[in-house]
Amino acid sequence: MRIYSLSNLGIAKKLPLKNCIFNPMTHTDKMLRGGSLAEKVIVVTGGGSGLGKAMTSYFLELGAKVAITSRKIEKLEATAKELKESTGGECFAVACDVRHYEQVEQMHQQVSDHFGPIDVLLNNAAGNFISPTENLSSNAFDTIVDIVLKGTKNCTMVFGKHWIKTKQKNVNVLNIITTYAFTGSGYVVPSATAKAGVMAMTRSLAVEWSKYGMRFNAIAPGPFPTKGAWDRLLPGPLLKKFDPSKKVPLGRVGDHQELANLAAYMVSNFGGYFNGEVIVLDGGEWLKGAGQFNMLEKIPKALWSILKKAMLKKK
Ligand code: HXC
Ligand code: NAP
Repeated sequence: MRIYSLSNLGIAKKLPLKNCIFNPMTHTDKMLRGGSLAEKVIVVTGGGSGLGKAMTSYFLELGAKVAITSRKIEKLEATAKELKESTGGECFAVACDVRHYEQVEQMHQQVSDHFGPIDVLLNNAAGNFISPTENLSSNAFDTIVDIVLKGTKNCTMVFGKHWIKTKQKNVNVLNIITTYAFTGSGYVVPSATAKAGVMAMTRSLAVEWSKYGMRFNAIAPGPFPTKGAWDRLLPGPLLKKFDPSKKVPLGRVGDHQELANLAAYMVSNFGGYFNGEVIVLDGGEWLKGAGQFNMLEKIPKALWSILKKAMLKKK
């Protein structure tokens, strides 16, 4: 008799196949088996809201101990409490503005004192807003670059130097970037500039610091609805006018669990051969914008035979 394992649900018990109900998996299902992140200590910057919170929740479910950090301690504490209750995991809230190196050093110390050695750094904190570039003050541009690029640099340097000093191995850094890190984009120029820098840092250190037992990777998400992003990138009437799902060939925005599944896989030991990789998770959005003839999608089917005749006539 074949035996089917329910380890995906964290249930070690094995049942005969005839006793199992098979439901097809969907993109919103949880991908990894229970315990996949057991023994891992993970720090998620910007973990109190949006995508950082979604990834933290799944990491906790998979057995990790997770420290969430950002500027607003009340928000972090509320999230930590909620996630402890919903997952039964250990979640620790620490205030830290990633723009300040000394705050990052203090945060690293606090998390190490609380949980012991840290295995994973997830650089997810970001700042962003839309604006014509000529309208930006120098401080506005700097603010975004300081959070995204300098913040990621600060965390990477503090954690990386510590890992080198203590000779801790099998550690990794996952950076959340965007697809316009490689295409560029108007109206979010400070963010595009900073995310491109983070991508370069990811690929550079993947090679230079691999000798110390570190891996560096990135995820470039397409549109995933969050309050933080939607309020700043699609304010007021823009959401109706520019429905983000319409830009995606698959016709939908991302589900937070899809990102959490990928992130959990990449930081886990299952992802141990990912190094220097940037995974795009966007339903084909950026390629749709890039392909020169993709606008022909708008041509009605019936018109194609007329166009063909017109082309053949020219021969
Ligand atoms: C023009 C603006 C502005 C705006 C702020 N500024 N908002 N300029 N248009 N909408 C200017 C201010 O006038 C000021 O310049 C400078 O920027 C700093 O603003 P502060 O409010 O003092 O900064 P701070 O309190 O540090 O807040 C940072 C912030 C804020 C980035 C401005 O929005 C924030 O806290 N964001 C965190 C969360 C976030 O942004 N989440 C979205 C991530 S989404 P002056 O010269 O007046 O001093 C994302 C998606 C990417 O990254 C890809 C999507 C597909
Ligand atoms: P979000 O909820 O606004 O997340 C941003 C987080 O960064 C917040 O929790 C914020 O917390 C924190 N933060 C901001 N400034 C900080 C600072 N100086 N120090 C420490 N933490 C700081 O938005 P999100 O959509 O989930 O974004 C998460 C990540 O995904 C970002 O890297 C973003 O660029 C990326 N991304 C998102 C999308 C999308 O469609 N949503 C697409 C592509 C990429 P505090 O305010 O408490 O500091």
